[in-house]
Amino acid sequence: MESVTHSDLIIEELPPEMMKQKIPDDQLTFGTEFTDRMLLREYKNGAWQPARIMPFQNFSLSPAALVFHYGQAIFEGLKAFRQNNGRIVLFRPDMNAERMWNSAKRLVMPPLDKEFFVDSIKTLVRLEKDWIPSKKGTALYIRPTMIATQPILGVRPSEEYYYFVILSPSAPYFKEGFSPTKIKVEDKYTRAAPGGVGEAKTAGNYAASLYAAKLAKQEGYSQVLWLDACQKKYVEEVGAMNIAFVLDDTIYTSPLKGTILPGITRDSVLQISKDLGYKVKEESLAIDTIVEGIESGSLTEIFGMGTAAIISPVGEIKYKDKVLQINNGNIGEKTKAIYDELTGIQYGIKEDKYGWIVPVEE
Ligand SMILES: Cc1ncc(COP(=O)(O)O)c(C=O)c1O
Repeated sequence: MESVTHSDLIIEELPPEMMKQKIPDDQLTFGTEFTDRMLLREYKNGAWQPARIMPFQNFSLSPAALVFHYGQAIFEGLKAFRQNNGRIVLFRPDMNAERMWNSAKRLVMPPLDKEFFVDSIKTLVRLEKDWIPSKKGTALYIRPTMIATQPILGVRPSEEYYYFVILSPSAPYFKEGFSPTKIKVEDKYTRAAPGGVGEAKTAGNYAASLYAAKLAKQEGYSQVLWLDACQKKYVEEVGAMNIAFVLDDTIYTSPLKGTILPGITRDSVLQISKDLGYKVKEESLAIDTIVEGIESGSLTEIFGMGTAAIISPVGEIKYKDKVLQINNGNIGEKTKAIYDELTGIQYGIKEDKYGWIVPVEE
C-alpha cells in the first residue's frame, strides 16, 4: 500500500472499496457509526513508534494482552464541529491532551506528547472531514484510546501499548438532546474513593458504574448521580458528565478533589457562567440540601455538562423513595443561557473570546 510520510505520521491510502456509506444528519445516534480511517501508534522497545493513519480495521491482539486482564486502559473524548460558515474546528483539544497525559501517569502508561496528540487529530479529522455532520447538536466525536498490549500474565505495567483514535459522527449522547433527563441518586454503590482513580479517564471507572446504571435504567432513569464514597452524603458527578445545581441563585458544582473527572465542559461552563454574571461556587452540596432546596423552591435548576452530553438539563431526580421534579420538569433560565453560549461558541454563532476554538484547517 502506498504511503506518504510526515515525520512520525504515515498516511496510508484508503482503497475505494473500504469507503463506507455516510449517514444523513437526522438519522445519527451516538457512537454507533465510524468513519473510514483511524490512527494507530504502537509503543514498544521503550519508545513510541511512528503513527499510522490507516483504513478503519480490526486489531489482532494476543488473548494474554494485559489490557484484557488488569484493565490498563485510558481514553479521551472530544469533538470536531462543522461551524455555520463551513469551518471545521476542535474545542479545547489541548485540555484533552493534558488529561490524557495525567491519566497515563496515574495508570503507569507512557504519556503521549501533547503536541502530537493535537496535531495528529487535526490531520485525521482533515482527512475525514466529509464525515462531519452539520446539524446543530451533531458533531464528529473523537475517541483517542491507549491500551496495554504486552502478552504476559502478572499484575505489572505493560511494556507495550497501542494508542489509537477512532471517529464517530454523532448526535448528542442522550436521546432527549437538550430536553430534561431523569437521574437516580445512587445511595448504595459508589464510583470512586479518595486516593483511587476517579479523576483518571480509565476504562475500569466505567465498568464499575454499569451495575448501578442498569438498576437505574430499570426504573426509567437515564443515569446515576454518584455520592461521595465515604459518607454517601455529598454529590459528586453523573455517569458520563459533571453536574451543577442552581441553589439560591448560585451555581454549585463539586470541586476537583480527585474523585471526579475534571471535565472540560465543566471548566468552560464555570468560565462562561462568571462572564454571564452568575455567582459560581466549586463546593460539594449534601444530597439533603439538594432535596430540601427542591422541596422549598430555592433549588431551581440542575444540569449535567460533558462533551458527549453537552449541557443536559435534569427534570427529575429520585433519591431513596422520593421522586422530585425540578422547575416543573422545564429547562431553567441559566441552563438555557449557558447552553446557548457554549454551543454558540462551538458552532461559530458567538464570538470565541476565550481562544477555545482550534481550526483544523487554516
Ligand atoms: C465520568 C465523567 N465525568 C465528566 C465528564 C465530562 O467531561 P468532559 O466535559 O471533558 O467531556 C465525562 C465525559 O466523558 C465523564 O465520563
